[in-house]
Amino acid sequence: MLPPETELWNGVEQTAREVFGSYGFGEIRPPIFEPTELFARSIGLDTDVVSKEMYSFEDRDETSVSLRPEATASVCRAYIEHNMHALPQPVKLYYMGPMFRRERPQKGRYRQFYQIGAEVLEALQQGQGGAKDIPKDAAIDAEVIEMVMTFFARLGLEGVELDINSIGHNAPNCRPAYVAKLKAELERVKDKLEPDSQRRIETNPLRVLDSKLESEQAIIATLPRIADCLCDDCAKQYAEVKRQLDLRGVAYRENWRLVRGLDYYMRTTFEITAKGLGSQNAVCGGGRYDGLVELLGGQPTKGIGFAIGEDRLILSLQEAGKGAVAQGRDVYIAWMGEKTLATAIAAAQESRAAGLRVELPPVEQKFGKALAQADKIGARFALILGEDEVASGLWTLKTLATGTQEKLEKADMMDFLKKAKSSPQS
Ligand code: HAM
Repeated sequence: MLPPETELWNGVEQTAREVFGSYGFGEIRPPIFEPTELFARSIGLDTDVVSKEMYSFEDRDETSVSLRPEATASVCRAYIEHNMHALPQPVKLYYMGPMFRRERPQKGRYRQFYQIGAEVLEALQQGQGGAKDIPKDAAIDAEVIEMVMTFFARLGLEGVELDINSIGHNAPNCRPAYVAKLKAELERVKDKLEPDSQRRIETNPLRVLDSKLESEQAIIATLPRIADCLCDDCAKQYAEVKRQLDLRGVAYRENWRLVRGLDYYMRTTFEITAKGLGSQNAVCGGGRYDGLVELLGGQPTKGIGFAIGEDRLILSLQEAGKGAVAQGRDVYIAWMGEKTLATAIAAAQESRAAGLRVELPPVEQKFGKALAQADKIGARFALILGEDEVASGLWTLKTLATGTQEKLEKADMMDFLKKAKSSPQS
C-alpha cells in the first residue's frame, strides 16, 4: 500500500475513530499472534478458519502460535486477563489492523487483510441474566448495528445492505432442536447435494445454508427455517432487535440463511454488503456471542460485535470514485542564491507550523526548473525568494493554476497562505 491510497486508508480509519468514539468506544490493540489454542477454542475446530486457514507454527518452546485470523478471541482473552469485568459495564472496545487467513486469493480476498472491528462485553452482575435482559441486549445489538451503518453513511459507501438473522441459543429446545431437524432433512436430500455440503451434514449442518452453488439453491429453499424453531426467549429477543432497528431508522433485510462461519455466535447475527465488490461482497460481519468469555475461563459475560473488511470497504469506495487524490503540496519554496537560504528555511518552518504542506528544495534551483518541479508535484503556490525579495522584504507568490503573481510583505504572505490552507477551494 502506497500513497496516495494510504491517504484513503487513513481517512477511513480516522472516521472510524470519530464515529466509534462518539458511541463511547475506546481502542484496544491486541497482539498479532496468540496461542493457537485460543483461536481453536473460540472459533471452533470444524470451522474453515481453524481447520484450514490459520498460519500456525511451532515456537522455540514447542508451543503452537498462530497469526490472528480475527480479533474477537483476543479481545475476550484480554477482557479476562485485565479484569475488565471490574470496570463499569459494558466495556466497549474497537480495533483495527491486519488479520491472516490462508484463503485462495482473489479480488477482495487476501491472505493478509485488514479489519476494523468493535466489541461490547458485559459481565453478568448479581441477579442479571435470563429473560429480563432481553430488551437491554436487543438495544445493545441494535446500537452496535446502527454504529456500523452510521460509519458507512459517513464515508458515503454505496449500495449498503444489511442482512440480519437469529441463530438461537444452545439449549435443547432451541438451536440443537433446529439443527437435528435440519440434519434429518439434509439426510433425506443428501444425494442432490455436492460433496462439500454432504460433508457438512456431519460436521456443521448450518453451514450448508451458506452454499452459493447454483445447483443447491432450489433444495436449500425447501429446508426448515430457524425462525420457526427458536425458543420463546430467542424469538422475543429477535423481535425486539427488529423493533429497536426500526426505532433507529436502520433498514434491514431478514435472511434466514445467514449463519456465519465462526462457532461462537448465538442469537443476533448480521452481515453487510456493499456495491462494486463482485462475489466477495460482504464488507462486515458480526453477531452476539454470550458465553465466549466463560468458555475461555472468564466469568459469565455477554458479547456482541462486528468486523469490517477494510480492504473491501476501500475497494468499494474506489469503485464509486471516492478514492484518494494524489497528495499535493500547498507551497513550493523556489529559493535562489545562498543568501536567501536562511529566509527560505524560516518561511518553510513557519508555514509547516501553520499546517501547510511545504516543499523546500535542498539545493537552489534555476527559476524555470523550480517552477516546473512545483507543477509536477501538484503544488498550489510557488513562493519565490530571490536576493531582491529578501532585501526588499516584498515576497513573490505565484498561483500555479492561473499563473498569476503578486508581491506581498512577509507578514501578509503568511496570513494569505494560512487562509488559503483553511479554505482550499478559494
Ligand atoms: P468474519 O465474517 O470472518 O467475522 O470477517 C469479517 C469481515 O472481514 C468479512 O465480512 C470480510 O469483509 C473481511 N474478511 C474476512 N476474510 C477476508 C479475507 N481473506 N480477505 C479480505 N477480507 C476478509 C469475523 O472476523 C468476526 N471476528 C467478526 C465479529 C466481531 N463478530 C463478533 N465480533
